[in-house]
Amino acid sequence: MLKQQITTLISVSVQLSSRKNDILERWVNFPMVLEVLDKHHIDIELFKSVYAINILDYYFGVVEQTKKIGDCPVMADFMIYLKEHDISADELFIICTHARKAMINLTFDLDIASKALFEEISYVFDLNFKGVLAQYANTIYRLEKQIQQEIDENRKKDVVMFQHARLAQMGEMINNIAHQWRQPLSMVSAIVQNIHFKYQLGKLESDFFNQNIEDIKKILQQMSQTITDFQNFFHPNKEKEEYFIENSIDHTIDLLNHSMETSAIEFIRLGRNDLVHIMGYPNEFAQTLLNIFSNAKDALLQNDLYEKRCIYIETTLLEDRLLISISDNAGGIPENVLDKVFNPYFTTKEQGKGTGIGLYMCKQIIEKNMNGSIYVQNKLFSNAENGAEFIIELPYRE
Ligand SMILES: Nc1ncnc2c1ncn2[C@@H]1O[C@H](COP(=O)(O)OP(=O)(O)OP(=O)(O)O)[C@@H](O)[C@H]1O
Ligand SMILES: [Mg+2]
Repeated sequence: MLKQQITTLISVSVQLSSRKNDILERWVNFPMVLEVLDKHHIDIELFKSVYAINILDYYFGVVEQTKKIGDCPVMADFMIYLKEHDISADELFIICTHARKAMINLTFDLDIASKALFEEISYVFDLNFKGVLAQYANTIYRLEKQIQQEIDENRKKDVVMFQHARLAQMGEMINNIAHQWRQPLSMVSAIVQNIHFKYQLGKLESDFFNQNIEDIKKILQQMSQTITDFQNFFHPNKEKEEYFIENSIDHTIDLLNHSMETSAIEFIRLGRNDLVHIMGYPNEFAQTLLNIFSNAKDALLQNDLYEKRCIYIETTLLEDRLLISISDNAGGIPENVLDKVFNPYFTTKEQGKGTGIGLYMCKQIIEKNMNGSIYVQNKLFSNAENGAEFIIELPYRE
């Protein structure tokens, strides 16, 4: 800044700076300024004595060339103070411009006002504001970046959680594959023994041999299909696709049926809507069902309350949404934890048995990926048995 550019201002600088308190009072008492200070509960006396007076001192320091532009000692603290009070950039602008207005008003009252003085006062203020606003915008930008980083980190944590949950599901599924393979394996083994036996007796006829080989081929094909089914199950869908909701439920039940039967748990289908198709991610949806089913299984095995262990599934079509209700007769969820079950890492299971991710994952899939909602309530059945009911609502359009 050139001294020559502000000669008028320099000539009255001493006169103006001797009236600093006057400028200060005018500044903080403009209605727009008061409104901002008031809105953000800023203590006016503190604002005046800690920041405003120092900012004016600095202003005159710049005019008298004893201070450099952009070197205001209280500015950094002032920024932090404003940010702590949630002052937005436009509110900061209001505060800044009224400092100038206060000084210009005073020049009129002192009868020293002139166009040149007006422009020179404005010029020094503008130079200062430019720096202040840039600095403020920059800190806000940094803050946004920090928030973005936190969001990214949370997302990474979610990915890790989902991987853990998926591993747990895979363990469950491997048990199912093992189960589903046991019977065909023993069938193949029996057929092979039979062939061997006939061969040793010299009674192996070609018809018998060919028929048995065909049987083995069929069984092996089935076994290979089992693997494909399970593999598909864990393959996340990249694109949304249209699928029949009932097929998806049937398919998931088929995959689990063996291990449920072993635990004497029966799936019972109530209302069905076979023609309803949904846009979404069928595999993710199937994983949601799997999580809810395996929770029901855990609860049914833990609280063996009634004669039959049941998981009921019912779909109901409303005008614009489809409700999928999955309930069990395992006694329900204690009221004091009912609102916590969807929280990440909330579990009532002993260590090693549950991580508390299952339902959190369900909620993410249903709400974020499928635009639906999921909630839980306790249910009393007409036969006086009770249990937990999970309800998934999905948007549906004919
Ligand atoms: N059908 C149910 N009956 C009773 N309690 C349930 C039922 N489903 C869920 N819960 C309760 O909700 C908690 C949270 O379930 P969630 O599936 O999120 O975690 P988890 O099953 O404990 O562990 P994870 O699924 O990670 O192996 C469970 O620990 C259990 O207390
Ligand atoms: Mg679970």
